Amino acid sequence: MAAQQITQLELLRELEQVVEKELNRHLGAAKEWFPHDYVPWSEGRNFDGLMEGDPWSPDDADVPDVARTALVVNLLTEDNLPSYHHEIAIIFGRDAAWGEWVHRWTAEEGRHGMAMRDYMMVKRMVDPVALERFRMTHMSAGYESAHSEDLLRSLAYVSFQELATRVSHRNTGRFTTDPMCDRLLARIAADENLHMIFYRNLLKAALELAPDQAMQAILDVVKAFEMPGAGIPGFQRKAVEMAVEGIYDQRQHHDDVVMPVLRYWKVFDLEGLSGEGEKARVELGDFMAGLDDAATRFTEKRDALKARLAARR
Ligand SMILES: [Fe+2]
Ligand SMILES: [Fe+2]
Repeated sequence: MAAQQITQLELLRELEQVVEKELNRHLGAAKEWFPHDYVPWSEGRNFDGLMEGDPWSPDDADVPDVARTALVVNLLTEDNLPSYHHEIAIIFGRDAAWGEWVHRWTAEEGRHGMAMRDYMMVKRMVDPVALERFRMTHMSAGYESAHSEDLLRSLAYVSFQELATRVSHRNTGRFTTDPMCDRLLARIAADENLHMIFYRNLLKAALELAPDQAMQAILDVVKAFEMPGAGIPGFQRKAVEMAVEGIYDQRQHHDDVVMPVLRYWKVFDLEGLSGEGEKARVELGDFMAGLDDAATRFTEKRDALKARLAARR
């Protein structure tokens, strides 16, 4: 017999105290920082157009192509914040601790796009006209997650997604070979990590309240996982470029993003699952093994390709 399903409303109510506790922990752990602090303003120059300065040129900044691609992907991802806010405000609501988190999280995320854009413009790292056109296209399309309006799936998704974003920012910073940019992206990555912890802890509480439903939600999300920037024009090509260079690849997705969170939730030694939950757990284990194999194949292929290219040089 299937266990009694808990409704979304009951879950929201049951988790309210956890949200309050986690919000307080978050507020204690988060350090105040200022976007302007991270930007070398005196290195900036006017652009052509109204200011009659110099047009942008790819030679303005000595940034590897893949880092440029990743900066654009990561910034456009941050830019789409109004859509993400909409998603979580609908699911979590705007009342009490849930609402307080929604607004606080949105305020923190807002800083990321601002700081990145200021930095990239002052250092002329990317074409400002192309960037703005990309932003218009991307934001005009809006974003809707595959799990919108589903609390458990949304919590599982953001747990992985915040960590994935952390890894992507962190590695992008290193790939820019620009120490100040690296410092800014490390600062942003630290925020993403705290966001991940908040959501991860919330889903852990949900696993205790409704283990079968939470397990099914985790399985669905892991199977369908896609970065929030997937709607960016040309995203697939950009994602491949980033994977080939190692900014975000399947090995990192498996080892540094999905597995650590699954381990934290103890999904593979959780007790109290019924038939349905157990079935989901087995399928999750199989899926992760497949992901691990795919990551190994990808890395091998990539290394062989790089060795061939190096030999040719
Ligand atoms: Fe962010
Ligand atoms: Fe975040």
